[in-house]
Amino acid sequence: MDTPSEHHFDLTQIDQVNQACYDKRANFWDRFPFPDSLPQFVVQYAPKQLGKRVLDVGSGTGILAKWLQEQGFDVLCLDPSPEMVRRCKEKGLQVVQGTIQTYQASGQFAMIFAILSLIHIPKAPFAYQIKHLADLLPEKGILFLGMLEGKGEGFAEGPDYPRFFAYYSADEIGKIVSKEFVQKAYRHYPSNGTGYMLFVFEKQ
Ligand SMILES: C[S@@+](CC[C@H](N)C(=O)[O-])C[C@H]1O[C@@H](n2cnc3c(N)ncnc32)[C@H](O)[C@@H]1O
Repeated sequence: MDTPSEHHFDLTQIDQVNQACYDKRANFWDRFPFPDSLPQFVVQYAPKQLGKRVLDVGSGTGILAKWLQEQGFDVLCLDPSPEMVRRCKEKGLQVVQGTIQTYQASGQFAMIFAILSLIHIPKAPFAYQIKHLADLLPEKGILFLGMLEGKGEGFAEGPDYPRFFAYYSADEIGKIVSKEFVQKAYRHYPSNGTGYMLFVFEKQ
């Protein structure tokens, strides 16, 4: 693996804990992610020559996906949480229930959004999943990636809101992703000693 981890996590347990949390706390995520930059990035970087098909990995309640649909994109949502899937369907969105690890696409997409969803997979398989997403994009396809800044990985946020998180530096992400992508844009949002990172990558 490209990002070796000294830990060996139980992947089934990670997905179960995350899913239980998102099923219970879906309301908390019912907000548009990165509202001051993501819509503007979509307008600026959408590869018009590649068509309208887009994939939203970890679509949550579907707010971003609904907005994309309203902009004329043909959106497919992917999320493992039944409650998130229900909310996407309620909005009239096309949705597949599952994780990125289990997802098998038919065909390619012009753009893929993975906004604060790949933060929930361990670091060891991260590079593999980036390659997986790269394979779903043609040359010049765009990946919007939202990640958490920091170090390490593990379960966090106490008994009421436990989830598994993996943290990265912007440089670390850049190195992993540079095999398949070139960076087009980056925004950093500081938050309580850590930060949120939003990247726009173009498939090479
Ligand atoms: C922090 S929320 C972000 C939701 C939305 N993308 C947003 O930014 O508002 C993370 C979402 O990723 C989903 N998720 C968790 N693990 C995932 C995985 N392995 N593959 C795909 N989605 C996952 C969760 O169910 C949840 O809806």
